[in-house]
Amino acid sequence: MIEIIDLHKSFGPKKVLDGVNLVIPTGTTMCIIGKSGCGKSVLIKHIVGLLEPDKGDIIADGKSILNMDKKELFEFRRKIGFVFQGSALFDSYNVFENIVLGLYEHGTKDMKVLESEAIRVLQAVAMLPEENGAELKREWEILKNKKPSDLSGGMRKRVGVARALVGHPEYIIYDEPTTGLDPVTSQQIDELIADLTKKIKVTSIVITHDLFSVWQVADTVSMLNEGRVQFTGTPEDFNQSKDPVVLEFLERYKN
Ligand SMILES: Nc1ncnc2c1ncn2[C@@H]1O[C@H](COP(=O)(O)OP(=O)(O)O)[C@@H](O)[C@H]1O
Ligand SMILES: [Mg+2]
Repeated sequence: MIEIIDLHKSFGPKKVLDGVNLVIPTGTTMCIIGKSGCGKSVLIKHIVGLLEPDKGDIIADGKSILNMDKKELFEFRRKIGFVFQGSALFDSYNVFENIVLGLYEHGTKDMKVLESEAIRVLQAVAMLPEENGAELKREWEILKNKKPSDLSGGMRKRVGVARALVGHPEYIIYDEPTTGLDPVTSQQIDELIADLTKKIKVTSIVITHDLFSVWQVADTVSMLNEGRVQFTGTPEDFNQSKDPVVLEFLERYKN
């Protein structure tokens, strides 16, 4: 379980987070929504340690990250897979290299180990056949050498998800996984997210402003507004909310 407690963050005079409180229960999928620029990415960057709070705390599995030493922090970060906004693959690296780069840099140099991990995560995102056999081997040989520019937007996103699955994370954080994708591809990525949550029992945090995604994947939806959590509840509760801020958001983003 991750608990975010009274998180504050400003950049210069600009207050972005002004006391965010949020609990993400283990084994569930939480969607975080809110207007563009409201601080969604800033919030999750605190969870993965890319930003430090001005005030407040994050409790991971009962332990404050402020009290963790370097090693504990490293162990916690290792439990999190992060799917960046826009996939963030390295254009000059092929699929194999993009997926195992982190493992390699952390000391795994054995080609066999790297290959089997890459195949495992590519199977998990349905880019390779499930069964071990000649077909898998053939498709792997073709796929591994492809560059991001050889892939469609949806496939690049899948590779980004596969990379986040390396090392068996307990948490996966997706930053706007369907932004920029067409509706059909968006739905496929939503299905993948829902599928992974069930299949490998991860806890997922999905940042989105796609209300359709919320319906597809969320157990809980939390809405950020003016630096705080405006609403937390089920998608059904969200849809029936009479809160004017929620209503305005629903009106603006439904389509
Ligand atoms: N490193 C940074 N330095 C200064 N301002 C930042 C930084 N990161 C984000 N911001 C500002 O914080 C606000 C929230 O950004 P962000 O969390 O990226 O929004 P979104 O909800 O669209 O993900 C924006 O106004 C953005 O310009
Ligand atoms: Mg963002």
